[in-house]
Amino acid sequence: MRILVTGGAGFIGTNFVRHLLAYRPDDEVVVLDKLTYAGRRENLQDLLDRITFVKGDITHPRDVHAVGPCDAILNFAAETHVDRSITDAGVFVRTDVLGTHVLLEYARRMEVGTYVQISTDEVYGSRETGSFRETDALDPSSPYSASKAGADHLALAYFKTYDLPVCITRSSNNFGPYQYPEKLIPVLIIRALREEPLPIYGKGENVRDWLYVEDNCTAVDLVLTKGKPGQVYNIASGEERRNIDVARLVLSMTGRPETLITHVTDRPGHDYRYSLDTTKIRDLGWKPGQGFEKALDRTVNWYRQNEGWWMPLIGRDVARR
Ligand SMILES: NC(=O)c1ccc[n+]([C@@H]2O[C@H](COP(=O)([O-])OP(=O)(O)OC[C@H]3O[C@@H](n4cnc5c(N)ncnc54)[C@H](O)[C@@H]3O)[C@@H](O)[C@H]2O)c1
Repeated sequence: MRILVTGGAGFIGTNFVRHLLAYRPDDEVVVLDKLTYAGRRENLQDLLDRITFVKGDITHPRDVHAVGPCDAILNFAAETHVDRSITDAGVFVRTDVLGTHVLLEYARRMEVGTYVQISTDEVYGSRETGSFRETDALDPSSPYSASKAGADHLALAYFKTYDLPVCITRSSNNFGPYQYPEKLIPVLIIRALREEPLPIYGKGENVRDWLYVEDNCTAVDLVLTKGKPGQVYNIASGEERRNIDVARLVLSMTGRPETLITHVTDRPGHDYRYSLDTTKIRDLGWKPGQGFEKALDRTVNWYRQNEGWWMPLIGRDVARR
């Protein structure tokens, strides 16, 4: 199978390409990535002789067509940082909505066998209790989640209108190796390792369900092979934690004092809690591989051992809050 992974030089894309090469050595993997600030060719450096890497933009049909025929498309490419979407929503609408449209058109014309749209739990919005099911209405809060919701609607419309075999995955917050240090967990780890203050929005009471990236890759792979066209699959571990508790855990794992926690002005429209019902993906045979603490410990160790990966980013984005 020839598999196109868009956004394969970003955080989850990089981990997914590694997953494909490890578990499906006979498949051909093509990465299409614009290499924005979040996409780094060096993430795939050791794999470049085993994959085809194309630098290109999913919003440009010519770049997408340059990839050639493929059997499956997984669209990880997106602008992904909520704070950036609040200061500049335009690029989110362009990449996340228009880029998805270009890929769907390509998939339709080329009669691609499977199209997996990688979405997020943020499209459902926030809720204080209970969990969202795949059939619940979308109620996004930020320009990021609204753009992702637009892409989800388009993808499902292509299934209904053109019979395009589309599946959607909506996962909770991922963490693990290669995550760009503007997202909460790498910000906390790197700042703790450097003995710098850990910025926490408001009181830190916002709750997220944390999913180790390898577990997400396993689930996405399952949807690729066993997902039913036209269906949405929620992916989450059920490991809900308050941001403040995640910060405390990182400090304890790095041997730093809790006095490093610094509360900063909250993000506008900050969703209080995301929570997903994962019955459907579990019915496909998926379950998370390890508990949150163990996966967080592995992640802390990865950042400890890969200073050369994040050090060049210091001063650019690390812990910009
Ligand atoms: N990180 C999370 O916690 C999380 C949770 C749920 C869903 N998601 C979704 O998973 C996907 C991947 O997220 P991530 O955290 O790896 O993101 P990321 O920001 O780390 O990487 C995004 C990648 O997309 C590429 N890209 C951006 N615009 C592009 C364009 N126009 N054309 C081609 N490539 C482009 C970037 O260069 C980068 O490599 C996204 O669709 C995101 O919405 C992420």
